[in-house]
Amino acid sequence: MHCVEEIKNGIYWMGCNDFRTEIFERIFPIPEGVTYNSYFIDDEMTCVVDAMDKSCRDEFIEDVEYLLKGRKLDYFILQHMEPDHASSAVALLEKHPEAKIVAQAQTFKLFEQFFRKPMPSRYVEVKEGDQLKLGKHVLTFVKAPMVHWPEVIMSYDITDKVLFSADAFGMFGTVGNVYADQVDFEENYLDSARRYYVNIVGKFGPQVVKVLQKAAGIPIEVICPLHGVVFRTPETIQYIIEKYLHWAKYVPEKKGVVIAFSSIYGNTERAACVLAHKLSMLGIRDVRLYDVAKIHPSYVTAKAWEYSHLVLAAPTYNLNLFLPMENFLHDLKTLMFQNRKIAVIGNHSWASAAYNTMVDYVQNRFKNCELLEPTLDMKSSLRDDQEGIIDEIAKAVADDIKAYPEPKSLL
Ligand code: FEO
Repeated sequence: MHCVEEIKNGIYWMGCNDFRTEIFERIFPIPEGVTYNSYFIDDEMTCVVDAMDKSCRDEFIEDVEYLLKGRKLDYFILQHMEPDHASSAVALLEKHPEAKIVAQAQTFKLFEQFFRKPMPSRYVEVKEGDQLKLGKHVLTFVKAPMVHWPEVIMSYDITDKVLFSADAFGMFGTVGNVYADQVDFEENYLDSARRYYVNIVGKFGPQVVKVLQKAAGIPIEVICPLHGVVFRTPETIQYIIEKYLHWAKYVPEKKGVVIAFSSIYGNTERAACVLAHKLSMLGIRDVRLYDVAKIHPSYVTAKAWEYSHLVLAAPTYNLNLFLPMENFLHDLKTLMFQNRKIAVIGNHSWASAAYNTMVDYVQNRFKNCELLEPTLDMKSSLRDDQEGIIDEIAKAVADDIKAYPEPKSLL
């Protein structure tokens, strides 16, 4: 069996869906699965661009052998050493001992660290701008440091204007159709692409912007990422680059609010839900509520990236901020979350810690975020005569959302 498709003039997609891995990188739940893409170039010289996770090793080798049709493999390009793509590389390289390995110098070091199988006689070191001639196809290389490993290099086929973009423009989720223009991308893949970006690459916005600037200087007709669908039309390429500009520059895609809360006995949750309803009554559409103790932070961080405003509501627990909220905020901070307006509701019964910690994140630990006033530090539960405070918070958040500039294209 094989599962391949010709993308353009002898360039083939090889893809494998992974439905079995439950937690990607042992941290991100992927109920929707994930794909590992690899690419094959059939020319005077044969070339494989990246491998797959070892969970797809058999399928990967089978597809390569099908496309080789008994020919030898000349080149294997390793765009970065992360094992979700490289852990089946050794199997390929042992099966094809004649194949040269093309990568940056640091990738070879990491290759040896991970696999303890040095193959120095086979290394072909490349730097930015170097060329690899395969026949009609000529590849050049574009450095993409920290997108999202230090030694990432993208490959660009000058002949057919195909960019092999490594993890950039990738996404969680399995694929049936190969191309973004064959699916309802916004409906079925956008959330997965954003969650993948924010949690895997989100910390490195400035580096992503630099790569996007380089990409703007070259004609691109196809983008081939290592996860998810391939982009081959001007519309889908423009769409995903525009999304990347928002995400990498920490610019919200939408006016609106995410209410991230955690609650021990339901009183903070009640305040969050009452606030959500009041925001709705004030005309705010699409108010999103997430219990961060229940929903994995990777989903909520991605939603926080999407919207202009954030509300945090959480209680004190063991004289600290309740851990699920602390984890969520720590995650946001690590990912360099910035440029948002944020309201805060704390809760405590005898000693207040949650409120101050959340305010500290907003004012001191996040970059360029603004605390919306008024704030509230509840005592166990809200009395009926305190509802006015929630009204004031709702009005402040709603007014600020309404005054927020309309999102515009960053292209
Ligand atoms: Fe999909 Fe950086 O690996």
